[in-house]
Amino acid sequence: MTPLAQTPAKAGNGTDAGTQRSAGDSVHRSTASGHLVGDMSMEGKYCIVTGSNCGIGLQVARGLMRRGAHVIMACRNMTACEQAAAALRSEGLSGSCTCRMIDLENPSSIRAFVSQQAAELAASTDSEVLFMGAGGSNNNSGSGRPSDAGVEDAAAGLHGGQRLRQGRRYVDVLVNNAGVMGVSPAADGSDRHLTINHLGPYLLTRLLLPHMTHGSRIINVASRAHYNGSLSLASNPDGRAETIRNDTHHWFWQYSRSKLCNVLFTAELQRRYGYDSPFALTAAKSSSSRGIGDGSSSNLPVIGGIGAHAVSPGLVDTGIIRYLLPGQLRWLLAPLRPFFRTPEQGAEVVLYAASSPELQARNALFLHDCRERQPSVAARDPRLAADLWRVSAALLGMPEEGEELGPRE
Ligand SMILES: NC(=O)c1ccc[n+]([C@@H]2O[C@H](COP(=O)([O-])OP(=O)(O)OC[C@H]3O[C@@H](n4cnc5c(N)ncnc54)[C@H](OP(=O)(O)O)[C@@H]3O)[C@@H](O)[C@H]2O)c1
Repeated sequence: MTPLAQTPAKAGNGTDAGTQRSAGDSVHRSTASGHLVGDMSMEGKYCIVTGSNCGIGLQVARGLMRRGAHVIMACRNMTACEQAAAALRSEGLSGSCTCRMIDLENPSSIRAFVSQQAAELAASTDSEVLFMGAGGSNNNSGSGRPSDAGVEDAAAGLHGGQRLRQGRRYVDVLVNNAGVMGVSPAADGSDRHLTINHLGPYLLTRLLLPHMTHGSRIINVASRAHYNGSLSLASNPDGRAETIRNDTHHWFWQYSRSKLCNVLFTAELQRRYGYDSPFALTAAKSSSSRGIGDGSSSNLPVIGGIGAHAVSPGLVDTGIIRYLLPGQLRWLLAPLRPFFRTPEQGAEVVLYAASSPELQARNALFLHDCRERQPSVAARDPRLAADLWRVSAALLGMPEEGEELGPRE
């Protein structure tokens, strides 16, 4: 696969301390795996990170705030979320954060979260990101946070005032990070790995798509465990896949399957909304007349040019093991610790996918160590990806497409 990272360098310590300034706005940063990667400022970007009260997600939130982003910390445990947010705020990072409740096991909670986001994005509208055209200035009278959105618009061929006419903000980055491993089945026997790790993020992403625009990025935190995963869909008599077979009962295979779903979902997102999608160019060119997200339900939906990437953080020392190994037995892992990455190092690839200029307009499906890797054969099966999309929609009682393309708030 094409290496996306730049000149190899000696291994860094996984922190931003190893950054080096380069031409333009981006800097180069050395990662735990020893690569120099490009790193953009995220100033003024609106980023949602699920499961950001601990583990990798917390370090992703920290890294985004360090780059100047506003981070929505989307968590199910609000006490833990507020504590984590308070700790981040006390560090004096240039960005900001807000805590919001979401339980990815509960579709009503996901819908409530998206409704709240829609309202908050709409409320932040006119006061932010007003691109005044070539030679003009970016006026961010509301938040006081500067934005480079105007520069991006210029690059996409938009003209002064178009953002003003669109008159709203967008989700720039969605990180589907929250996940579980080793959980027991739900009361009805269904696999909660599939529900929390795939179906919840699938619903969240689809409902948030109308709130994204050309250049937004979706990062699905998958795993190399997906190489062990297999996905079997049950078909009806006419051969059309209908549901996911409940044929895997051990947590390891269930987790691996859910991570395979993360990569397949990413592939289908790329096909439908990615940089090569039929909508990608029209989205950039026609957004002023059509008004992505401007409330006009009569126009044909056009969403495209959205980056979608599945990433693998490596083996990371977090609390994800808690459902398998109670806290008092964690010492058993001590001999393995030298082989684990820190959560900060685990977050590197996520931050790379969220902010690297190397991934602008590039459909990299699966990243590990900040490099594009070939995912499993199953993960590269376009038919399976399309079927999973349709079956997931059916399981959630939503149309295969449409809900994310319908009238916008
Ligand atoms: N650690 C690794 O070695 C490793 C390797 C490969 C991939 N990954 C992936 O990395 C991601 C983050 O894992 P981690 O290692 O950082 O684990 P972690 O420390 O256990 O963090 C998981 C996060 O997900 C949240 N979460 C779990 N169920 C949720 C739900 N129903 N609704 C909302 N949030 C929920 C947790 O919230 P609570 O605190 O409330 O439980 C927590 O914030 C996961 O997708 C995992 O599959 C991890």
